[in-house]
Amino acid sequence: NAAGGQARLTAYRSGLLYFIGAPSEGEHAAVHCEDGLLVIEDGRIVAAGDYARVAPGLEADVPIVDWRGKLIVPGFIDTHVHYPQTDMIASPAAGLLPWLETWTFPTEARFNDPGHAAEVARYFLDELQRCGTTTALVYCTVHPVSADAFFTVSHARNMRMVAGKVLMDRNCPEALRDTAESGARDSEALIQRWHGTGRQMYALTPRFAPTSTAAQLGVCGELAQRYPDVFIQSHVAENSEEVKWAGELFPGHRSYLDIYDRFGLLRPRAVYGHCIWLDDDDRRRMRDAGALAAHCPTSNLFLGSGLFDVARARQCGMHLALATDVGGGSSFSMLQTMNEAHKIARLCGYNLDAQSMFYLATQGAAQSLGLAGQIGTLAPGAEADFIVLDPQATPLLARRTSQAGSLEELLFAFAMLGDDRAVAATYVAGRRLHVRSNEIMQAQT
Ligand code: GUN
Ligand code: ZN
Repeated sequence: NAAGGQARLTAYRSGLLYFIGAPSEGEHAAVHCEDGLLVIEDGRIVAAGDYARVAPGLEADVPIVDWRGKLIVPGFIDTHVHYPQTDMIASPAAGLLPWLETWTFPTEARFNDPGHAAEVARYFLDELQRCGTTTALVYCTVHPVSADAFFTVSHARNMRMVAGKVLMDRNCPEALRDTAESGARDSEALIQRWHGTGRQMYALTPRFAPTSTAAQLGVCGELAQRYPDVFIQSHVAENSEEVKWAGELFPGHRSYLDIYDRFGLLRPRAVYGHCIWLDDDDRRRMRDAGALAAHCPTSNLFLGSGLFDVARARQCGMHLALATDVGGGSSFSMLQTMNEAHKIARLCGYNLDAQSMFYLATQGAAQSLGLAGQIGTLAPGAEADFIVLDPQATPLLARRTSQAGSLEELLFAFAMLGDDRAVAATYVAGRRLHVRSNEIMQAQT
Protein backbone atom coordinates (compact mmCIF):
# COMPACT_ATOMS: atom_id res chain seq x y z
CA ASN A 1 0.00 0.00 0.00
CA ALA A 2 0.95 3.62 -0.37
CA ALA A 3 2.12 4.08 3.21
CA GLY A 4 5.10 1.77 3.05
CA GLY A 5 4.87 -1.13 0.67
CA GLN A 6 3.56 -3.99 2.71
CA ALA A 7 -0.11 -4.50 3.51
CA ARG A 8 -0.36 -5.33 7.19
CA LEU A 9 -3.65 -7.14 6.92
CA THR A 10 -4.10 -10.60 5.44
CA ALA A 11 -7.42 -12.41 5.14
CA TYR A 12 -8.17 -16.13 4.79
CA ARG A 13 -11.32 -17.42 3.13
CA SER A 14 -12.36 -20.84 4.46
CA GLY A 15 -14.80 -22.60 6.72
CA LEU A 16 -14.22 -21.35 10.29
CA LEU A 17 -14.86 -23.04 13.61
CA TYR A 18 -14.15 -22.03 17.18
CA PHE A 19 -15.83 -22.24 20.58
CA ILE A 20 -17.16 -19.60 22.93
CA GLY A 21 -18.25 -22.08 25.59
CA ALA A 22 -18.21 -25.77 26.49
CA PRO A 23 -20.36 -27.87 24.12
CA SER A 24 -21.33 -30.07 27.09
CA GLU A 25 -22.88 -27.07 28.82
CA GLY A 26 -24.86 -25.33 26.10
CA GLU A 27 -26.17 -25.44 22.59
CA HIS A 28 -24.50 -22.30 21.32
CA ALA A 29 -20.92 -23.14 22.23
CA ALA A 30 -19.62 -23.46 18.65
CA VAL A 31 -19.19 -20.59 16.18
CA HIS A 32 -19.20 -22.12 12.70
CA CYS A 33 -19.09 -20.29 9.36
CA GLU A 34 -19.28 -22.49 6.28
CA ASP A 35 -17.92 -19.71 4.07
CA GLY A 36 -15.95 -17.54 6.45
CA LEU A 37 -13.27 -14.90 6.43
CA LEU A 38 -10.51 -14.63 9.03
CA VAL A 39 -8.60 -11.35 9.10
CA ILE A 40 -5.13 -11.05 10.65
CA GLU A 41 -3.14 -7.94 11.48
CA ASP A 42 0.34 -8.02 13.05
CA GLY A 43 -0.03 -11.58 14.32
CA ARG A 44 -3.47 -11.05 15.84
CA ILE A 45 -6.99 -11.86 14.74
CA VAL A 46 -8.97 -8.71 14.01
CA ALA A 47 -12.11 -10.22 12.46
CA ALA A 48 -13.70 -13.63 12.00
CA GLY A 49 -17.12 -14.27 10.51
CA ASP A 50 -19.17 -14.98 7.42
CA TYR A 51 -17.42 -13.93 4.22
CA ALA A 52 -20.48 -12.04 3.04
CA ARG A 53 -20.48 -9.94 6.21
CA VAL A 54 -16.73 -9.38 6.76
CA ALA A 55 -15.40 -8.99 3.20
CA PRO A 56 -17.25 -5.72 2.36
CA GLY A 57 -15.52 -4.00 5.29
CA LEU A 58 -12.00 -4.69 3.97
CA GLU A 59 -9.94 -2.32 1.85
CA ALA A 60 -9.62 -3.54 -1.73
CA ASP A 61 -5.86 -4.12 -1.41
CA VAL A 62 -6.05 -6.62 1.48
CA PRO A 63 -4.82 -9.96 0.11
CA ILE A 64 -7.27 -12.85 0.51
CA VAL A 65 -5.74 -16.34 0.72
CA ASP A 66 -8.18 -18.81 -0.75
CA TRP A 67 -8.66 -21.87 1.47
CA ARG A 68 -12.24 -22.51 0.34
CA GLY A 69 -13.35 -26.09 0.94
CA LYS A 70 -11.14 -26.32 4.06
CA LEU A 71 -11.90 -25.73 7.75
CA ILE A 72 -9.83 -23.28 9.80
CA VAL A 73 -9.78 -24.02 13.54
CA PRO A 74 -7.59 -22.67 16.35
CA GLY A 75 -4.21 -24.41 16.65
CA PHE A 76 -4.33 -27.43 18.94
CA ILE A 77 -3.06 -27.31 22.53
CA ASP A 78 -1.22 -30.42 23.79
CA THR A 79 -1.22 -30.13 27.58
CA HIS A 80 1.44 -32.77 28.34
CA VAL A 81 4.35 -33.93 26.19
CA HIS A 82 8.05 -34.80 26.61
CA TYR A 83 10.25 -33.38 23.82
CA PRO A 84 13.34 -35.42 24.84
CA GLN A 85 11.33 -38.62 24.32
CA THR A 86 10.79 -37.93 20.60
CA ASP A 87 13.42 -40.45 19.52
CA MET A 88 12.04 -43.24 21.74
CA ILE A 89 8.40 -43.04 20.66
CA ALA A 90 7.04 -46.53 19.97
CA SER A 91 9.27 -48.32 22.48
CA PRO A 92 7.23 -51.03 24.19
CA ALA A 93 7.59 -52.11 27.80
CA ALA A 94 5.66 -53.97 30.48
CA GLY A 95 4.16 -50.86 32.05
CA LEU A 96 5.31 -47.42 33.17
CA LEU A 97 8.11 -48.20 35.65
CA PRO A 98 10.05 -50.71 33.47
CA TRP A 99 9.54 -48.36 30.51
CA LEU A 100 11.14 -45.48 32.44
CA GLU A 101 14.14 -47.64 33.40
CA THR A 102 14.65 -49.32 30.02
CA TRP A 103 13.96 -46.52 27.56
CA THR A 104 13.29 -43.15 29.12
CA PHE A 105 16.19 -42.55 31.45
CA PRO A 106 18.92 -43.63 28.97
CA THR A 107 17.34 -41.45 26.25
CA GLU A 108 17.05 -38.40 28.51
CA ALA A 109 20.66 -38.76 29.70
CA ARG A 110 21.89 -37.43 26.32
CA PHE A 111 20.32 -33.98 26.87
CA ASN A 112 23.28 -32.59 28.77
CA ASP A 113 24.58 -31.94 25.23
CA PRO A 114 23.15 -28.60 24.01
CA GLY A 115 23.71 -29.48 20.35
CA HIS A 116 21.74 -32.70 20.66
CA ALA A 117 18.99 -30.94 22.62
CA ALA A 118 18.65 -28.21 19.98
CA GLU A 119 18.51 -30.72 17.12
CA VAL A 120 15.75 -32.72 18.84
CA ALA A 121 13.86 -29.54 19.79
CA ARG A 122 13.84 -28.42 16.14
CA TYR A 123 12.55 -31.79 14.94
CA PHE A 124 9.97 -31.90 17.76
CA LEU A 125 8.55 -28.47 16.93
CA ASP A 126 8.51 -29.32 13.20
CA GLU A 127 6.46 -32.39 14.04
CA LEU A 128 4.05 -30.44 16.26
CA GLN A 129 3.54 -27.96 13.41
CA ARG A 130 2.87 -30.80 10.95
CA CYS A 131 0.21 -32.10 13.35
CA GLY A 132 -1.39 -28.68 13.90
CA THR A 133 -0.27 -28.24 17.51
CA THR A 134 0.70 -24.63 18.19
CA THR A 135 0.96 -24.66 22.00
CA ALA A 136 2.22 -27.45 24.25
CA LEU A 137 3.17 -28.00 27.88
CA VAL A 138 6.56 -29.55 27.47
CA TYR A 139 8.84 -31.51 29.77
CA CYS A 140 12.55 -31.01 29.15
CA THR A 141 15.10 -33.15 31.03
CA VAL A 142 16.82 -32.50 34.34
CA HIS A 143 19.58 -30.59 32.50
CA PRO A 144 19.04 -26.79 32.40
CA VAL A 145 20.63 -26.73 28.91
CA SER A 146 17.77 -28.91 27.65
CA ALA A 147 15.33 -26.14 28.60
CA ASP A 148 17.52 -23.36 27.20
CA ALA A 149 17.80 -25.25 23.91
CA PHE A 150 14.04 -25.78 23.71
CA PHE A 151 13.09 -22.20 24.53
CA THR A 152 15.69 -20.83 22.11
CA VAL A 153 14.16 -22.76 19.21
CA SER A 154 10.56 -22.03 20.23
CA HIS A 155 11.27 -18.32 20.75
CA ALA A 156 12.92 -18.04 17.31
CA ARG A 157 9.69 -19.43 15.80
CA ASN A 158 7.51 -17.21 18.00
CA MET A 159 5.49 -20.20 19.23
CA ARG A 160 3.52 -19.95 22.48
CA MET A 161 5.12 -22.75 24.47
CA VAL A 162 5.18 -23.68 28.15
CA ALA A 163 8.18 -25.75 29.25
CA GLY A 164 10.36 -26.56 32.21
CA LYS A 165 13.44 -28.36 33.42
CA VAL A 166 12.59 -31.64 35.16
CA LEU A 167 13.21 -31.79 38.91
CA MET A 168 14.39 -35.22 40.04
CA ASP A 169 16.62 -35.83 43.08
CA ARG A 170 16.17 -39.55 43.82
CA ASN A 171 15.23 -42.94 42.37
CA CYS A 172 16.88 -42.31 39.03
CA PRO A 173 20.36 -42.71 37.48
CA GLU A 174 23.08 -40.44 38.84
CA ALA A 175 23.42 -38.64 35.48
CA LEU A 176 19.78 -37.50 35.71
CA ARG A 177 19.79 -36.31 39.30
CA ASP A 178 19.73 -32.77 40.63
CA THR A 179 19.39 -31.77 44.30
CA ALA A 180 16.63 -29.87 46.05
CA GLU A 181 18.90 -26.84 46.10
CA SER A 182 20.39 -26.99 42.59
CA GLY A 183 17.01 -27.84 41.06
CA ALA A 184 15.41 -24.78 42.67
CA ARG A 185 18.30 -22.50 41.74
CA ASP A 186 18.33 -23.68 38.11
CA SER A 187 14.52 -23.42 37.84
CA GLU A 188 14.51 -19.89 39.16
CA ALA A 189 17.24 -18.83 36.73
CA LEU A 190 15.21 -20.33 33.87
CA ILE A 191 12.06 -18.51 35.04
CA GLN A 192 13.95 -15.25 34.97
CA ARG A 193 15.45 -15.97 31.56
CA TRP A 194 12.36 -17.31 29.79
CA HIS A 195 9.03 -16.73 31.54
CA GLY A 196 7.47 -13.88 29.58
CA THR A 197 10.30 -13.69 27.04
CA GLY A 198 8.32 -13.23 23.85
CA ARG A 199 5.67 -15.95 23.93
CA GLN A 200 7.61 -18.36 26.18
CA MET A 201 6.29 -19.41 29.58
CA TYR A 202 7.83 -21.50 32.34
CA ALA A 203 6.52 -24.58 34.14
CA LEU A 204 8.00 -25.88 37.39
CA THR A 205 8.37 -29.57 36.52
CA PRO A 206 8.82 -32.07 39.36
CA ARG A 207 8.73 -35.32 37.31
CA PHE A 208 6.50 -37.14 39.82
CA ALA A 209 6.50 -37.64 43.57
CA PRO A 210 8.55 -40.89 43.51
CA THR A 211 11.60 -39.14 41.97
CA SER A 212 11.56 -36.15 44.32
CA THR A 213 12.38 -35.98 48.01
CA ALA A 214 10.08 -34.10 50.36
CA ALA A 215 12.78 -31.42 50.45
CA GLN A 216 12.59 -30.98 46.67
CA LEU A 217 8.78 -30.81 46.60
CA GLY A 218 9.02 -28.32 49.45
CA VAL A 219 11.29 -25.88 47.60
CA CYS A 220 9.19 -26.36 44.49
CA GLY A 221 6.12 -25.28 46.46
CA GLU A 222 8.00 -22.22 47.69
CA LEU A 223 8.95 -21.25 44.14
CA ALA A 224 5.35 -21.75 43.07
CA GLN A 225 4.27 -19.31 45.73
CA ARG A 226 6.91 -16.78 44.74
CA TYR A 227 5.96 -17.00 41.05
CA PRO A 228 2.17 -17.31 41.03
CA ASP A 229 1.78 -17.04 37.25
CA VAL A 230 4.26 -19.76 36.29
CA PHE A 231 2.84 -23.18 35.50
CA ILE A 232 3.40 -26.40 37.45
CA GLN A 233 3.41 -29.78 35.71
CA SER A 234 3.77 -33.31 37.00
CA HIS A 235 2.33 -36.82 36.77
CA VAL A 236 -0.21 -38.34 39.13
CA ALA A 237 -2.05 -41.67 39.45
CA GLU A 238 -1.06 -43.03 36.05
CA ASN A 239 -0.34 -46.63 36.92
CA SER A 240 -1.31 -48.81 39.87
CA GLU A 241 2.30 -49.81 40.65
CA GLU A 242 3.28 -46.16 40.67
CA VAL A 243 0.38 -45.27 43.01
CA LYS A 244 1.49 -47.98 45.43
CA TRP A 245 5.12 -46.82 45.29
CA ALA A 246 4.19 -43.18 45.89
CA GLY A 247 2.17 -44.26 48.92
CA GLU A 248 5.18 -46.14 50.34
CA LEU A 249 7.53 -43.20 49.77
CA PHE A 250 5.14 -40.64 51.28
CA PRO A 251 3.25 -42.40 54.08
CA GLY A 252 0.48 -40.62 55.92
CA HIS A 253 -1.18 -38.92 52.95
CA ARG A 254 -4.83 -39.41 52.14
CA SER A 255 -4.00 -40.12 48.51
CA TYR A 256 -1.26 -39.72 45.89
CA LEU A 257 -2.75 -36.37 44.86
CA ASP A 258 -2.67 -35.25 48.48
CA ILE A 259 1.17 -35.39 48.41
CA TYR A 260 1.24 -32.56 45.87
CA ASP A 261 -1.50 -30.73 47.73
CA ARG A 262 0.47 -30.66 50.99
CA PHE A 263 3.42 -29.09 49.24
CA GLY A 264 1.31 -26.30 47.73
CA LEU A 265 1.42 -27.72 44.21
CA LEU A 266 -2.32 -27.76 43.49
CA ARG A 267 -3.55 -24.46 42.16
CA PRO A 268 -4.60 -22.73 38.92
CA ARG A 269 -1.99 -23.37 36.18
CA ALA A 270 -0.99 -26.70 37.79
CA VAL A 271 -1.34 -29.45 35.20
CA TYR A 272 -1.33 -33.13 36.21
CA GLY A 273 -0.80 -35.81 33.60
CA HIS A 274 -3.04 -38.92 33.62
CA CYS A 275 -5.22 -38.69 36.81
CA ILE A 276 -6.56 -42.19 36.13
CA TRP A 277 -6.53 -43.67 39.62
CA LEU A 278 -8.09 -40.76 41.51
CA ASP A 279 -11.17 -41.02 43.70
CA ASP A 280 -14.02 -38.50 43.72
CA ASP A 281 -12.51 -36.58 46.66
CA ASP A 282 -9.34 -36.13 44.60
CA ARG A 283 -11.35 -35.07 41.54
CA ARG A 284 -13.25 -32.48 43.54
CA ARG A 285 -10.01 -31.28 45.12
CA MET A 286 -8.58 -30.78 41.61
CA ARG A 287 -11.69 -28.79 40.72
CA ASP A 288 -11.60 -26.63 43.86
CA ALA A 289 -7.87 -25.96 43.46
CA GLY A 290 -8.37 -24.92 39.83
CA ALA A 291 -5.81 -27.51 38.70
CA LEU A 292 -6.05 -29.23 35.32
CA ALA A 293 -6.08 -32.94 34.45
CA ALA A 294 -4.26 -33.78 31.20
CA HIS A 295 -5.89 -36.89 29.75
CA CYS A 296 -3.36 -38.86 27.68
CA PRO A 297 -5.31 -41.61 25.90
CA THR A 298 -2.71 -42.97 23.46
CA SER A 299 -0.19 -43.24 26.27
CA ASN A 300 -2.62 -44.88 28.67
CA LEU A 301 -3.47 -47.56 26.12
CA PHE A 302 0.12 -47.98 24.90
CA LEU A 303 1.57 -48.44 28.41
CA GLY A 304 -1.50 -50.30 29.67
CA SER A 305 -1.94 -47.74 32.44
CA GLY A 306 -5.74 -47.76 32.68
CA LEU A 307 -8.90 -46.12 31.38
CA PHE A 308 -9.49 -42.45 32.27
CA ASP A 309 -13.15 -42.00 33.24
CA VAL A 310 -14.30 -38.82 31.47
CA ALA A 311 -17.83 -39.16 32.83
CA ARG A 312 -16.65 -39.12 36.45
CA ALA A 313 -14.23 -36.30 35.72
CA ARG A 314 -17.11 -34.25 34.35
CA GLN A 315 -19.49 -35.15 37.17
CA CYS A 316 -16.93 -33.94 39.70
CA GLY A 317 -16.27 -30.76 37.72
CA MET A 318 -12.57 -31.53 37.27
CA HIS A 319 -10.89 -29.26 34.68
CA LEU A 320 -9.93 -31.43 31.75
CA ALA A 321 -7.82 -31.22 28.60
CA LEU A 322 -6.21 -33.63 26.13
CA ALA A 323 -2.55 -34.50 25.68
CA THR A 324 -0.29 -36.83 23.70
CA ASP A 325 2.33 -37.66 26.37
CA VAL A 326 4.84 -38.60 23.66
CA GLY A 327 7.03 -40.76 24.05
CA GLY A 328 4.61 -42.72 26.33
CA GLY A 329 1.98 -41.59 23.84
CA SER A 330 2.12 -43.21 20.42
CA SER A 331 1.20 -40.19 18.27
CA PHE A 332 1.93 -36.46 18.08
CA SER A 333 -1.47 -35.88 16.47
CA MET A 334 -4.24 -34.38 18.58
CA LEU A 335 -6.71 -35.89 16.07
CA GLN A 336 -5.40 -39.38 16.83
CA THR A 337 -5.52 -38.44 20.50
CA MET A 338 -9.22 -37.58 20.12
CA ASN A 339 -9.76 -40.91 18.39
CA GLU A 340 -8.45 -42.87 21.36
CA ALA A 341 -10.12 -40.55 23.90
CA HIS A 342 -13.46 -41.33 22.28
CA LYS A 343 -12.83 -45.07 22.44
CA ILE A 344 -11.70 -45.01 26.08
CA ALA A 345 -14.81 -43.01 26.99
CA ARG A 346 -16.91 -45.67 25.19
CA LEU A 347 -15.35 -48.39 27.31
CA CYS A 348 -16.38 -46.34 30.35
CA GLY A 349 -19.95 -46.20 29.01
CA TYR A 350 -19.78 -42.59 27.86
CA ASN A 351 -20.22 -40.84 24.51
CA LEU A 352 -17.47 -38.21 24.17
CA ASP A 353 -18.68 -36.21 21.16
CA ALA A 354 -16.45 -34.56 18.56
CA GLN A 355 -17.38 -30.99 19.42
CA SER A 356 -16.37 -31.62 23.02
CA MET A 357 -13.06 -33.09 21.90
CA PHE A 358 -12.25 -30.14 19.61
CA TYR A 359 -13.23 -27.83 22.46
CA LEU A 360 -10.93 -29.67 24.89
CA ALA A 361 -8.05 -29.42 22.38
CA THR A 362 -8.53 -25.65 21.87
CA GLN A 363 -10.67 -23.20 23.87
CA GLY A 364 -11.23 -25.59 26.79
CA ALA A 365 -7.51 -26.05 27.33
CA ALA A 366 -6.85 -22.32 26.96
CA GLN A 367 -9.53 -21.56 29.54
CA SER A 368 -8.16 -24.06 32.04
CA LEU A 369 -4.61 -22.77 31.55
CA GLY A 370 -5.52 -19.14 32.18
CA LEU A 371 -4.87 -18.30 28.52
CA ALA A 372 -8.45 -17.67 27.38
CA GLY A 373 -8.68 -14.88 24.82
CA GLN A 374 -5.02 -15.36 23.87
CA ILE A 375 -4.98 -18.80 22.24
CA GLY A 376 -7.45 -21.59 21.45
CA THR A 377 -9.91 -19.28 19.70
CA LEU A 378 -10.48 -17.32 16.48
CA ALA A 379 -12.25 -14.51 18.33
CA PRO A 380 -10.92 -11.02 17.54
CA GLY A 381 -8.08 -9.99 19.85
CA ALA A 382 -6.57 -13.47 20.03
CA GLU A 383 -3.09 -14.40 18.85
CA ALA A 384 -3.29 -15.74 15.30
CA ASP A 385 -2.38 -19.41 15.91
CA PHE A 386 -4.62 -21.38 13.57
CA ILE A 387 -4.62 -24.42 11.32
CA VAL A 388 -6.25 -25.38 8.05
CA LEU A 389 -7.93 -28.78 8.12
CA ASP A 390 -8.57 -30.54 4.81
CA PRO A 391 -11.73 -32.68 4.65
CA GLN A 392 -10.30 -34.28 1.51
CA ALA A 393 -6.87 -35.04 2.89
CA THR A 394 -7.18 -38.77 2.17
CA PRO A 395 -9.49 -40.70 -0.14
CA LEU A 396 -11.35 -42.11 2.85
CA LEU A 397 -11.74 -38.73 4.58
CA ALA A 398 -12.99 -37.25 1.31
CA ARG A 399 -15.51 -40.03 0.88
CA ARG A 400 -16.77 -39.88 4.47
CA THR A 401 -16.86 -36.09 4.86
CA SER A 402 -18.66 -35.63 1.54
CA GLN A 403 -21.57 -37.42 3.21
CA ALA A 404 -21.39 -35.60 6.54
CA GLY A 405 -24.80 -34.13 7.30
CA SER A 406 -23.79 -31.97 10.25
CA LEU A 407 -20.86 -30.18 11.86
CA GLU A 408 -20.67 -32.95 14.46
CA GLU A 409 -20.37 -35.59 11.75
CA LEU A 410 -17.63 -33.63 9.96
CA LEU A 411 -15.60 -33.15 13.16
CA PHE A 412 -16.11 -36.76 14.16
CA ALA A 413 -14.70 -37.89 10.79
CA PHE A 414 -11.62 -35.69 11.36
CA ALA A 415 -11.20 -37.14 14.85
CA MET A 416 -11.59 -40.79 13.82
CA LEU A 417 -9.89 -40.74 10.39
CA GLY A 418 -7.52 -37.78 10.61
CA ASP A 419 -3.87 -37.35 11.56
CA ASP A 420 -1.05 -35.08 10.34
CA ARG A 421 -2.24 -35.57 6.75
CA ALA A 422 -5.44 -33.68 7.57
CA VAL A 423 -3.46 -30.52 8.41
CA ALA A 424 -2.96 -28.56 5.19
CA ALA A 425 -1.23 -25.63 6.90
CA THR A 426 -0.27 -24.29 10.33
CA TYR A 427 -0.02 -20.58 11.15
CA VAL A 428 1.71 -19.24 14.25
CA ALA A 429 1.17 -15.60 15.22
CA GLY A 430 -0.03 -15.02 11.68
CA ARG A 431 3.01 -16.61 9.98
CA ARG A 432 2.67 -19.81 8.01
CA LEU A 433 5.17 -22.23 9.58
CA HIS A 434 3.94 -25.39 7.88
CA VAL A 435 2.27 -26.26 4.62
CA ARG A 436 1.59 -29.85 3.60
CA SER A 437 3.85 -30.92 0.76
CA ASN A 438 1.10 -31.65 -1.77
CA GLU A 439 -0.21 -28.12 -1.27
CA ILE A 440 3.19 -26.84 -2.38
CA MET A 441 3.12 -29.16 -5.40
CA GLN A 442 -0.32 -27.92 -6.37
CA ALA A 443 0.87 -24.35 -6.10
CA GLN A 444 3.85 -25.14 -8.34
CA THR A 445 1.96 -26.91 -11.11
N1 GUN B 1 5.85 -40.70 35.12
C1 GUN B 1 7.06 -40.22 35.46
N2 GUN B 1 7.79 -39.91 34.37
C2 GUN B 1 7.02 -40.20 33.32
C3 GUN B 1 7.22 -40.07 31.90
O1 GUN B 1 8.25 -39.64 31.40
N3 GUN B 1 6.18 -40.47 31.12
C4 GUN B 1 5.02 -40.94 31.63
N4 GUN B 1 4.06 -41.30 30.82
N5 GUN B 1 4.82 -41.08 32.95
C5 GUN B 1 5.80 -40.70 33.78
ZN1 ZN C 1 4.29 -37.76 30.79
